[in-house]
Order: sequence, then structure tokens, then C-alpha cells
Amino acid sequence: MPRQFFVGGNFKMNGTIESIKGIVKHLNEAKCDSNTEVVISPPALYLLLTREHLRPGIEVAAQNVFDKPNGAFTGEISVEQLKDSNITWTLLGHSERRTILQESDDFVARKTKTAIDGGVGVILCCGETLEQREANKTTEVVVNQLASVAKVVKDWSKIVIAYEPIWAIGTGKVATTEQAQEVHAAIRSWIGKELGNEAAEKTRIIYGGSVSEKNCRDLAKENDIDGFLVGGASLKPAFVDIINARA
Ligand code: G3P
Repeated sequence: MPRQFFVGGNFKMNGTIESIKGIVKHLNEAKCDSNTEVVISPPALYLLLTREHLRPGIEVAAQNVFDKPNGAFTGEISVEQLKDSNITWTLLGHSERRTILQESDDFVARKTKTAIDGGVGVILCCGETLEQREANKTTEVVVNQLASVAKVVKDWSKIVIAYEPIWAIGTGKVATTEQAQEVHAAIRSWIGKELGNEAAEKTRIIYGGSVSEKNCRDLAKENDIDGFLVGGASLKPAFVDIINARA
């Protein structure tokens, strides 16, 4: 059973009411490959606006969620509040939160468990620094990040893994198809050993890091690259070309 191609758009801390309405209008009018599962992730302030105006069939993701239910957690958002808002996905473990906000592997794992247990899908980000790659530690780093989640989450059917080499994020230095495929294959092999062959076959592993309309088609041809998590390019009309990378 082929895995459904998956393209996420991570707006990060970008956009205004007007610019996000413009992106939504463009997506509503665009001819998107019906075989691609599309999820866009605006800043939290604009989740409801996006959901309200976006056509059915394109899902909306939060960029983060807390690991506790509603309560005295100033500034946080709960899984229940996402579901109350018809937000069906969340990003978790993005390298910008792991580095800038010092989110530990265990914290990301707890948040993943809370989201999955609450019925919200998770785009689970992992990736290495340039120094770790140059020290040949890429697979070790990425597997450790994923293994923390596997300790507390056994059903990965609503998890999409996003491999995002930190040195490729926002730099224009996209990983080569060989580099990306090598890590994706290593992740899939780890899933098989840790979670079983069915999980290995079914789990989508998407690539993120300077994906553009120019490089997406070659990357999309690789056996273990099941889609993309797109940053900067998701704010531009060419995002539709990335959605259609396999069309
Ligand atoms: O989450 C996706 C993001 O980290 C990739 O950013 O701008 O390199 O596509 P960008």
C-alpha cells in the first residue's frame, strides 16, 4: 500500500490577518493534487481564522501544544482547545523550539503522547546540527529524538515524522537527495526494529529544510521521502508546486 504523499506548511512566526487570508485564498483557488495530504500551520493567533476560511480537505496544524490538560499554564494551548477549534494536527519538536526554547526530548515526547492520546495528529520534527553531521552522529541524534517518543507512544499511526537537518533550515542549502534519502531510510529501518514492519511501511517520513519548487520534484522521487515540511516557501504561491511535486 503506497504511503499518501504529505505536504505541511510551517508559517513559523510569520504573517498577518491580511497575508494569511491571501495565502488561504490562493490555496482555496489552486489546483492541488488530490493525492497529496496538505496541512498548513499558521501562528496560533491565526488558527481559527485559517480554519474558518480554508476549504475542506486541507487541514490546519498548531505549531505547538502543551503536555497538560487545560489549567494554570499561562501562555500555553491544550489539545482540547485545538479539538474545540477543529485543529486536527500539531507540529512538535521543531528544532527552533528544541534549541531556542530548550525543549528536551522528554518534553517533546510527553507533548506527543498528550496530542496522540487526545486525538490530534503530530508532525514530529527531528534533525541534526552541522557539527553533529560532520561528526557522523546524524542517525544517532535523530534516532535518540524519536526513541524518546517511542518510550511513551506505541501507536504511531497518527504521527508523521519530519526529518529537518538544522543546517538546511532557512539557509537555502537543501540536503542532497542522497543525504535526505539516507537518513529517511535509516529512520524507516529504526521504526521497523522498534515498532514493527507495518509501522515502518505506513509511517510517512517527510523532509524539511530549504524545500522549494525547484528541488521538490527530485526529492519526491526518493523511496523514503514521503513529502515535505515547508517553511519559507509555504508563504509563497509556489507552495502549490511543492504540493503537486508528484503530480
Ligand atoms: O518546519 C519547516 C522548516 O523548518 C523549514 O524551513 O524555510 O528551510 O523551508 P525552510
